[in-house]
Amino acid sequence: MFRRLVLVLGLLMVAAVSPAVAQEVEVPQAVTTQREMVVTANPVATAAGVKVLQQGGTAADAMVAVQTVLGLVEPQSSGLGGGAFLVWYDAMTGDITTYDAREKAPLAATEDRFAGLGFFLAWQSGLSVGVPGTPMLMETVHAQHGNRPWPTLFAPAIGLAEGGYDVTARTADQVNALLSFNPSCTERLLFRDPVAFEYFTNGSETDCAAIPAGTRVRNPDYADTLRTLRSEGASGFYTGDIAAAIVDAVQTDLTIPGDMTLADLAAYEVIERDPVCMDYRGHEVCGMGPPSSGALAVGQILGILENFDLGDDPLGEEFVHLFAQAGRLAFADRNLYVGDTDFVTVPVEGMLNEAYLASRAALITDTDMGTAAPGVPPGEFDPTGPQEGDSEGGTSHVSIVDRYGNALSMTTTIESSFGNGVMVPGAGFLLNNELTDFSFAAVGANGDPIANRVQPGKRPRSSMSPTIVLDGDGNLELVTGSPGGSAIIGYTAQSIVNVLDFGLDAQQAVNVPHHQNRNGSTRLEAPIPGVTLDYDVAALVAALEARGHPVNVGSLVSGLSVIQVTDDALVGGADHRRDGTVGGR
Ligand code: DON
Repeated sequence: MFRRLVLVLGLLMVAAVSPAVAQEVEVPQAVTTQREMVVTANPVATAAGVKVLQQGGTAADAMVAVQTVLGLVEPQSSGLGGGAFLVWYDAMTGDITTYDAREKAPLAATEDRFAGLGFFLAWQSGLSVGVPGTPMLMETVHAQHGNRPWPTLFAPAIGLAEGGYDVTARTADQVNALLSFNPSCTERLLFRDPVAFEYFTNGSETDCAAIPAGTRVRNPDYADTLRTLRSEGASGFYTGDIAAAIVDAVQTDLTIPGDMTLADLAAYEVIERDPVCMDYRGHEVCGMGPPSSGALAVGQILGILENFDLGDDPLGEEFVHLFAQAGRLAFADRNLYVGDTDFVTVPVEGMLNEAYLASRAALITDTDMGTAAPGVPPGEFDPTGPQEGDSEGGTSHVSIVDRYGNALSMTTTIESSFGNGVMVPGAGFLLNNELTDFSFAAVGANGDPIANRVQPGKRPRSSMSPTIVLDGDGNLELVTGSPGGSAIIGYTAQSIVNVLDFGLDAQQAVNVPHHQNRNGSTRLEAPIPGVTLDYDVAALVAALEARGHPVNVGSLVSGLSVIQVTDDALVGGADHRRDGTVGGR
């Protein structure tokens, strides 16, 4: 039966879900549809995906329309110049496949690439740009799982790029935030690139500011690039004029020139990898293995929590304590062991071994454990040194279920806000700075090489955690994932526990304020009126501090896109911390 297209916009009154939040609060409410659904971080991108599904397209088809529109309307977060990980659930076979379209280091890259450079200089330079993976991902996934003609999928983005789209407040705010780091409008590290400066700002040399939210903007260069992709496929991106323009932009960078070559682009491949799956209380949780640390860290958190009764309150002191301890333990292992498995041996199975995780869980007491040390998982691994530090920035998550029952979970990125800050001349998209996800140091404090050190042709470790959960009978149950740098791991794990353990629906799961520990302080999200549930932060801080937690309250800006599959409907949860939107029918 055909239902009306539903786009979630309203805020409705719903009852709060736990004793800790026992008051009526205005928060977003779930949308349900009957047969297909798209959840993205932007209403225009969601609408583009919904239209493709309405025409009978698959999730793969809708993804191409969504990604090309996101690259235009949310350019700070993802695009053709970046990379992505995609988890695919095939309804016919019940199989889950993962696609690694992670950016790759040029062959000329050496392990001292970022030695002596602070994050800002490395970020805003040609050195940080990895060979993009997103265009080839779109082609690969469409070829394997699409049913709509490739050229038709570009119509929404080309139409908007030529006809114009309205700059969002998020984009304008992020431009202004970056400009504020510069000493002046002429001495610019952020938006040093004249093409990006002209496109995103008023261009003033005395009073530079973002183009205001609501301004209608056109990007004819991007329309040209999309037309090339439409007619030539991904090879029109990895060879020819676009490839030459990318290489030129990287090699002539105003801060530090990079070393990417035409040969690096021509050699790029999307890699199909086995999903990393684990059993969690009878559910099969599947995600992206190395070079992402996502499925391993999310899986470790869940596998450790499985040893405990979590109670019935998603913001209860006991659960927040346990989730923080599990996070500490998972990050200790992640920071030591995970890198690109084409270069280093990672104990993937051992890290999710049930007995190993039970032994890690046994380290948890009633008080905070302090900095967790890594464990020794069963299985082979290279001697590795721990990587210090981490970064955050610009990424987006897309969840789609089509009428055939297929699903995809894709986290797509250019790493930091506006990637490395360079817009490829004549091509209308930003370059990524994904290589800053490598460890800047090659050797750990213990003298051993770091698993995630730079190596030629290697893919940097990620935290992106696109996830698909099946029930005990192998039926699709949950599609989830988020942007947010290394906080992605906690956001994603929390969304899974909120649904599977606390029985929340997809939107309620997103609305619960975040809490997590990445083996440092225990971070609590301050409630956001109209966006998250309200709760007594001071009481939770006091309770955790009494248990020895170093607590930090602030913002935790996830961008969760969640689809829950129930017996009679699809239930969508979008993240109103960004511009999340559910669509479908
Ligand atoms: O791959 C990673 O883990 C990071 N490059 C993701 C960055 C990110 O999520 C920024 N988000 N808002």
